[in-house]
Amino acid sequence: MRDRTSVTVRAAAKINLHLGVGRVREDGFHPLDTVYQAISLYDDVTVSVDDADHLSVAGAAHLDLDEIPTDGSNIAVRALAEAPCDVRHHLRISKEIPVAGGMAGGSADAAAALLAHDRLHGLAQPDDVLLAQAARLGSDVPFSLVGGTARGVGRGELVTPVEDEGSWWWVAVPSAAGLSTPAVYRHFDVLRPDAPAEPASAEPLLAALATGEPLRVARALHNDLQEPAIDLRPELGDLIARGEAEGALRGIVSGSGPTVVFLCDSADGARATAAGLVGAGYAVALTATGPVAGAHVLA
Ligand code: C5P
Repeated sequence: MRDRTSVTVRAAAKINLHLGVGRVREDGFHPLDTVYQAISLYDDVTVSVDDADHLSVAGAAHLDLDEIPTDGSNIAVRALAEAPCDVRHHLRISKEIPVAGGMAGGSADAAAALLAHDRLHGLAQPDDVLLAQAARLGSDVPFSLVGGTARGVGRGELVTPVEDEGSWWWVAVPSAAGLSTPAVYRHFDVLRPDAPAEPASAEPLLAALATGEPLRVARALHNDLQEPAIDLRPELGDLIARGEAEGALRGIVSGSGPTVVFLCDSADGARATAAGLVGAGYAVALTATGPVAGAHVLA
């Protein structure tokens, strides 16, 4: 029988296979046409009833856990406030997703906290209510609920699943220090003052995805935030070149960075690329597959 004093939800990292960014809107957000994919790096969030509200975070030594706020500003804590109740909670986050890495780690925690809280209290809120709560928390949070492969428009919060029969192999290389998402978007505005209002269409990437051919997808990968991210962190350009020299089909900055992800032709190809990058001195190279499920309760 399920222990109703505690629920654990698992949520995955995301990457953007296509990230078209248009000119900044009046509300400060940028219009996007993006294709998200959930990949097999996970945060687990446990919500339990407790005497007082508190948050604890654990994770691998290479993660910059000190960068994660443990007060009310943490996005997972804010997620619990979306469905207010009189009960106090202990929120435990077990992290695998790089922190401030452009892989929606915070959004995954928020999505997991929303779902865990809902299930813990038997609220059974409809999906559209959870998705609306998710969108209020952040542009990537709805996708963290949905998972798989999906197209995102608006500021990224309007998510529609897309067909993706493929099973794709990735290597993710995090950086020691994170990059601020707003800073990368601001730098996009500086570098691209005459960016068109309409973001670059995701259609070419979707067509490539439908072929199931890794090389076609590799060629179609696109990220308008890559140029500003590399301008802020020139070493990311060297990393992309190195991973491609180690056998990856293509390297690309993940979202606003600084994590770089490499699409590989197979599981063996991903392991070889990761080993090559570690041999070249990169401390961490994680292999992952996608698409994987959105936020879900662990038994
Ligand atoms: O929605 P979220 O809180 O994740 O966004 C963080 C920041 O990233 C925003 O405050 C904004 O500066 C930038 N952003 C943007 N356009 C988007 C999404 C995010 O400019 N579509």
